Amino acid sequence: MKLRALLIAIGFVTIAGQAAAQENPTPILDSYTHEGVISCYGSTCHSRQSATGNNVRQNEIITWQDQSDISGAHSRAYKVLLNQKSRIIARNLGIGPAHEAKECLACHSDYIPEEQRGERFDISEGVGCEACHGGSENWLTSHYAPGQTHEQNTTNGLYRTEDPVARAKLCLGCHLGSEAPNQFITHRIMGAGHPRISFELDLFTNLQSHHDEDTDYRTRKNAAGGVKTWAIGQAMALQRQLELFSDPVRGREGAFPELVFFDCHACHLTFSNDPDWRPTWRANPDRALGPGVPVFNDANLIMLKAAVKTVAPEMEDELRQAGIRFHRSVSSAGGGSYQSATGNLLGMAKNLSERMAAEEFSKSETLSIMKTIVNDNVTNRYTDYSAAEQAIIAVDTFLEALLAENHISYEAATNMRPSIDAAYDVVNEPNRYNQNRMRDAFKRIATQVNRL
Ligand code: HEC
Ligand code: HEC
Ligand code: HEC
Ligand code: HEC
Repeated sequence: MKLRALLIAIGFVTIAGQAAAQENPTPILDSYTHEGVISCYGSTCHSRQSATGNNVRQNEIITWQDQSDISGAHSRAYKVLLNQKSRIIARNLGIGPAHEAKECLACHSDYIPEEQRGERFDISEGVGCEACHGGSENWLTSHYAPGQTHEQNTTNGLYRTEDPVARAKLCLGCHLGSEAPNQFITHRIMGAGHPRISFELDLFTNLQSHHDEDTDYRTRKNAAGGVKTWAIGQAMALQRQLELFSDPVRGREGAFPELVFFDCHACHLTFSNDPDWRPTWRANPDRALGPGVPVFNDANLIMLKAAVKTVAPEMEDELRQAGIRFHRSVSSAGGGSYQSATGNLLGMAKNLSERMAAEEFSKSETLSIMKTIVNDNVTNRYTDYSAAEQAIIAVDTFLEALLAENHISYEAATNMRPSIDAAYDVVNEPNRYNQNRMRDAFKRIATQVNRL
């Protein structure tokens, strides 16, 4: 217990220290020249054919470019703007060619102002190295010098991608939205044909990873565990969602609130004249709303509540009540001022982002959150596939984290794969999402989690 308190105390110190050092804005808003991916090339730099570097792998460009794998997605981000799907989206929106439209380039490239583009910078490289690591103007030639510290590099403008809080701010910009110009997907863009975006910080970090958190890494940087990264990601996604929703421009579309913040299935349901037809609407205890109202997408809030139940139980009830007040104020007459309810929930999300960043998640805490997420009393909140999707990704992330920390055997993890895949299957096609099937899938997982 004492040791734990100490760890938390140290956690707070490093977080405070990082917050003080981390003044860097996200790369799209930095003020440095971006020199382009070509400046990272070279066999003594980042384009070796295999991971043979001493400290870093040095084949990062090869991973980033891999056309056969998800890890190459960012190098393809600009190219997809030239495909048929993008042409349809851009035509429906009437914005001209997608690969020239600011509405698309803000996320599908390193879209910094003209005057910050170095001589060799090329927008068609897509989401290049500096879109995440920051404009290299002041660190390109010095960052690998012997004795150069990570602190010195970040002072020179290298973005702190290793810090899960800074990383969440960065990734959420394109994978949820941000205050940067045009870095936002509206329901209008979705209606024009843009695919739905799903994101979870830890899983997505792993999917695009081009680094090893080995011994030398840990001497240079702090490495946060998977569950902590997940928890910070959930709190920061809720925070970002509420910030954008309460923004007078982003949060509204004419007489309507911006629909992209809402539970898609609150509107995109079917109805029928068949006398045997019954509505698919289900009561949701953490919303306290009746049928027939649009509902804020609370997938991240539900996940955060599951984490809070275990690591900050004294806040559990307050967060739940703040969530209910928020839902009622947004969606139902007489629910009170939604500005104040949004501000209140946003404040809690901010506190919890810091709280999660100071937590270390033990095996028993990890299992406890996992059990909450698959428990029948919580799966009744997954009325929309996006909450169900977050839940199944969480189970997946937690299992990987337990394995990485040697808390469970490889065999135990492999044994759970088929039921996890079955649950992924339920959210694969949003039009066929069925909450009862999801609950059954989670019941099977719950039995297995109880044995871990
Ligand atoms: C807020 C950031 C953002 C904006 C703005 C944005 N996109 Fe995207 N787009 C994404 C992300 C993130 C994905 C990947 C979604 C996933 O797989 O989770 C994506 C995926 C796509 C895909 C599918 C790619 C594939 O591999 O199949 C197309 C096509 C696309 N976007 C076109 C556009 C067009 C056209 C515009 C402008 C109208 C646009 N996007 C604006 C972030 C954005
Ligand atoms: C989508 C964002 C993103 C892009 C694009 C990206 N990186 Fe990274 N990079 C990360 C993250 C996140 C990490 C892991 C955390 C860390 O240590 O910074 C990382 C880690 C690294 C590391 C290892 C650092 C270490 O200390 O071991 C190197 C080197 C690196 N990236 C180089 C590159 C190069 C070169 C490119 C372009 C080809 C690139 N990255 C593109 C996000 C990105
Ligand atoms: C400048 C915008 C931008 C930033 C910043 C960004 N991404 Fe992306 N990301 C995209 C776009 C656009 C796509 C879709 C590209 C495509 O379909 O080829 C994408 C795709 C991905 C994919 C592949 C998803 C899939 O379903 O195929 C992963 C994984 C991913 N990003 C992880 C991350 C992580 C982790 C971070 C933060 C370290 C991050 N991204 C930061 C724009 C961005
Ligand atoms: C408050 C109700 C509401 C919510 C919530 C909502 N939508 Fe919509 N959606 C609409 C309306 C209204 C249209 C326009 C229908 C039309 O053009 O006739 C639409 C159209 C669409 C279309 C175009 C469909 C087509 O075939 O033309 C897509 C795609 C879409 N929405 C996706 C989503 C996604 C994804 C979400 C969740 C993030 C969502 N919607 C949330 C009401 C909603």
